[in-house]
Amino acid sequence: MLASTQELLQTARQNIYAIGAFNIYNLEGVKAVVSAAETHRSAAMLQIHPSALKYGRSALVAMCLEAARAATVPISVHLDHSTNANDIRQALTAGMNSIMADGSHLPYAENMVFTREMTRLAHKSGAIVEAEIGRISGTEDGLTIAEKEAKMTDPAQAVEFVRTTQVDALAVTIGNVHGEYKNPPRLDFDRLARIRRLIDIPLVLHGASGLPGWMISRSIQLGVCKFNVNTEIRQAYMRSLKQEVCAGNGSDLLDIAGVAIAAMQEAIAEKLHLFGSVGKA
Ligand code: G3H
Ligand code: 13P
Ligand code: ZN
Ligand code: NA
Repeated sequence: MLASTQELLQTARQNIYAIGAFNIYNLEGVKAVVSAAETHRSAAMLQIHPSALKYGRSALVAMCLEAARAATVPISVHLDHSTNANDIRQALTAGMNSIMADGSHLPYAENMVFTREMTRLAHKSGAIVEAEIGRISGTEDGLTIAEKEAKMTDPAQAVEFVRTTQVDALAVTIGNVHGEYKNPPRLDFDRLARIRRLIDIPLVLHGASGLPGWMISRSIQLGVCKFNVNTEIRQAYMRSLKQEVCAGNGSDLLDIAGVAIAAMQEAIAEKLHLFGSVGKA
């Protein structure tokens, strides 16, 4: 069934587990998320990045909403990392009610103004908003410790940011990075604990691909109730396509799509277990 992100995150938070938000780009991705969630009796989120929105337009949103409605477990549909009002408007018009307004590339004061405006816009349509302070970037080799620290979420700023912008969920930067971790991941759990003590809205951790299970569990204990997963699912898809096509064993389009869906499903199921959401829906 189509669920609201707010409901999913609140239930997860009360019961100390987390919701997996999986980036999808096409029908195979949608099917993989919904099937994995159904098989494991777990809620999940279908997450559309603006690059995917550009590629699929409202057809992709419609596909996600339809799949969520038909699902036997709660699924919500969310716009990821949106940096401008146009993408947000398009998503709202297409029927999404959960968005990320991402002003994290802006200086702090501008991020606050941007996020406050986007939150007003989204709230008018009854949508809920996730925002980010600190800056989650791609894998950061070559940065000094001081440079890395400067990108992390400042707990005191986070309090002011949440109060001023009225966002519904906050993505934190505590050493998490998008894509693969080139060095072993190091998360600042003390910082996460301080943020949790000061802020009462759901906390989100991006860049979950590549995090070991114990870091995921520890983050959940310290209040994270949504994890974003993109890279590992894309990689499972691409690897499977390459293998099937290169094997040259005569498989046809739908056979290959089926194998790719199964490969993504396996990667998604692994995350659902780590997030503790299995058997809760
Ligand atoms: O935030 C998600 C973006 O789609 C980046 O994804 O880390 O797989 O490049 P990526
Ligand atoms: P990964 O690509 O590291 O899984 O991060 C996903 C993400 O944060 C999407 O917003
Ligand atoms: Zn992200
Ligand atoms: Na990552």
